[in-house]
Amino acid sequence: MPSISNKGRNMPESPIRKLVPFAEAAIKKGKIIYQLNIGQPDIETPKAALDAVKNNNIDVLSYSHSAGFESYRTKLAKYYRKNDIPVDAEDIIITTGGSEALLFAMGSITDPGDEVIIPEPFYANYNGFATASGVQIIPIKGSIDDNFSLPAISEFENLITDKTKAILICNPGNPTGYLYTREEIQQLADLAIKHDLFIVADEVYREFAYDGVKHHSIMSIPDLEQNAIMVDSVSKRYSMCGARIGCLVTKNKEVMAAAMKFAQARLSPPTFAQIAAEAALDTPDQYFEEVNKEYTERRNLLIEGLEKIPGVKVAKPKGAFYCIAELPIENADKFAQWLLEDFQHNGETVMVAPANGFYSTPNTGMNQVRIAYVLKKENLEKAIEILKIALEEYNK
Ligand SMILES: Cc1ncc(COP(=O)(O)O)c(C=O)c1O
Repeated sequence: MPSISNKGRNMPESPIRKLVPFAEAAIKKGKIIYQLNIGQPDIETPKAALDAVKNNNIDVLSYSHSAGFESYRTKLAKYYRKNDIPVDAEDIIITTGGSEALLFAMGSITDPGDEVIIPEPFYANYNGFATASGVQIIPIKGSIDDNFSLPAISEFENLITDKTKAILICNPGNPTGYLYTREEIQQLADLAIKHDLFIVADEVYREFAYDGVKHHSIMSIPDLEQNAIMVDSVSKRYSMCGARIGCLVTKNKEVMAAAMKFAQARLSPPTFAQIAAEAALDTPDQYFEEVNKEYTERRNLLIEGLEKIPGVKVAKPKGAFYCIAELPIENADKFAQWLLEDFQHNGETVMVAPANGFYSTPNTGMNQVRIAYVLKKENLEKAIEILKIALEEYNK
């Protein structure tokens, strides 16, 4: 039999999705599962976006420009400028989700064997994108005790080698919920300029910044134009995960030209979804104010609830809709599976994402889980209660 590639063999499984077969089996047995494991918001997609798809009369569903509709990129650039991100339509390539923008970014700036430094824990699929590009992730460990703030710049500097091409950050962070301060972003920018590195900033959760704290984009730092690449998406902003629309943004013309070749190879981003994403830009600010209020309340409820469970330590998120919690257990993989297979409380259980898949350092985060607060408050409350009871039973 012909053999598959080493790359295919080494491609990591998604830690978020690998428990799905156990969840499906539990559901078949009639168990109700509160899904705290996945970043699928339950917030309604703005009506304007859905209506734009329903109410159009396209005769031929054709390819679009490889960089995406010009009208969409122009309107998107306007949205960015409103958010202190001084870019034009020509600095944007529309992609099939932020995921494809990450692949294009890696493909455009790295060669196999190159290194990218990433604060960990990080969005688990960075492991997959790095494997696909033959890139080595060099992790730099954040600590739950300081809510996963940026590790000291000297620690980054110690990791830089002649193979280092970029630093990749996620701001606000999935899975940590950490929101970088302006000073932290500036420190990273200074480091990137000093060592001639790219900074790739995954800002797909930009709108989800709480407690009145402002989000600072990598693109708003002066003098970083040649080093900065931003990855963005409509998935979370407008609760449009299924649209599969994101973008890559940079002022660096060479990066743009390279990324365009990747974009041309896949022809174009999806047409209907671009129509929806373009219309979503008309979403009034009030939508975000209401969504932020809702997430702030959920976060407060979750963090307060988790902190009351004996032995649980939790990092306080300032953005996105996730947190990392350390549980009084040894192995979160086994615990998460047990929750689905062997545990129930009045026919109900919870699903969490074991956090070790969000680290690339082996055997790290073994007693941690990522919890997404994408459930309605009453369900979140029930889920916390169930988790508390489950931990008591597991540790009996
Ligand atoms: C940090 C981060 N980046 C990128 C993505 C990819 O999102 P999409 O491809 O749906 O735009 C996700 C999805 O959960 C994410 O959490």
